[in-house]
Amino acid sequence: GAASKGEYRHFMLKEIHEQPAVIAAALEGRLGDSAVLVESFGPEARALFERVQQIHIVACGTSYHAGLVARYWLERYAGVPVQVEVASEYRYRQVVVPEGTLFVTLSQSGETADTLAALRFAREKGYLASLAICNVPGSSLVRESDLTLMTQAGPEIGVASTKAFTTQLAALMLLTLALGRSHGLDEAIQSELVNALRGLPRLVERVLALDEGIEALSTGFAEKHHALFLGRGAHFPIALEGALKLKEISYIHAEAYPAGELKHGPLALVDSEMPVIAVAPNDELLDKLKSNLQEVRARGGELYVFADEQVSLAEEPGIRVLHLPHVHEALAPLLYTLPLQLLSYHVAVLKGTDVDQPRNLAKSVTVE
Ligand code: G6P
Repeated sequence: GAASKGEYRHFMLKEIHEQPAVIAAALEGRLGDSAVLVESFGPEARALFERVQQIHIVACGTSYHAGLVARYWLERYAGVPVQVEVASEYRYRQVVVPEGTLFVTLSQSGETADTLAALRFAREKGYLASLAICNVPGSSLVRESDLTLMTQAGPEIGVASTKAFTTQLAALMLLTLALGRSHGLDEAIQSELVNALRGLPRLVERVLALDEGIEALSTGFAEKHHALFLGRGAHFPIALEGALKLKEISYIHAEAYPAGELKHGPLALVDSEMPVIAVAPNDELLDKLKSNLQEVRARGGELYVFADEQVSLAEEPGIRVLHLPHVHEALAPLLYTLPLQLLSYHVAVLKGTDVDQPRNLAKSVTVE
């Protein structure tokens, strides 16, 4: 049944391995030949999306990180200005809502107290409409939103969110392309991204098949007390999510920085006791990231780099490189999440923590 671990030692590992199937489920029936089907967001979506001039995204925890990725996508492909905020801050702020703003909540459970309170607060603020991207049908958030898109990840039991996050990203790419249709996105790019989305479950499978190599990397973390995650662009939120996973289940203090900020503080912490994990897909920021990595090496920091197979980065003492299959640049944040999930999982297993139910944390935070 849904609540059985099957062949897996933990729910988290089972849920990590479900990702090819649930990402396919999140896309199922929502892609046309060369464009996203806007009706996936409800019958009124087409008319509403045409009127969207900006977007406010509100969420907590891992769902907030999905929102941060979406900002890069929505601004680049739909040309719509986006703000992303944690719900516990948003709901107590004097928010200014320009005309034509779509309010978007992201939530696995649909019951997170702050996110729900943010939606209720937003209702008084003159938004164009509210959209919930959520994993639990019939949850409070879904019932109280104007538009909904279900992420179709199935029940998630592990407290550390995995498949809920990657299906949220798939859903957010659908939102980006759906909005892109009425916001001037080139049809050839729309079609290219739709094709890339179709190929995504297969690529996710290929990354999961790298698990042995990722498990081998995890031994470098078991005795460490701190770790630093670096990314640039849409991979900065992926670095944030990688750091959150490591904190949640292995209790190792982890921070994430956009690599360009390294010089403005965190470089002071780097030494041989501070492993540094870098997400280095093959995008336009790669050369800049490479020079950030040299700064880390020069201070004796041990580097773990996840990079595209087309990136020439050689292993050398102090630099471990794990190559991922080539993926469309836009979808790289989704793919690069997987090795970070697996890395945290293996570190937690080595440390002997309660992987599925880490201390002091709850799956759903239904009180403020
Ligand atoms: C808790 C969970 C996290 C989750 C967050 C937001 O902190 O432990 O895994 O990301 O709540 O939950 P939601 O259900 O709103 O996505």
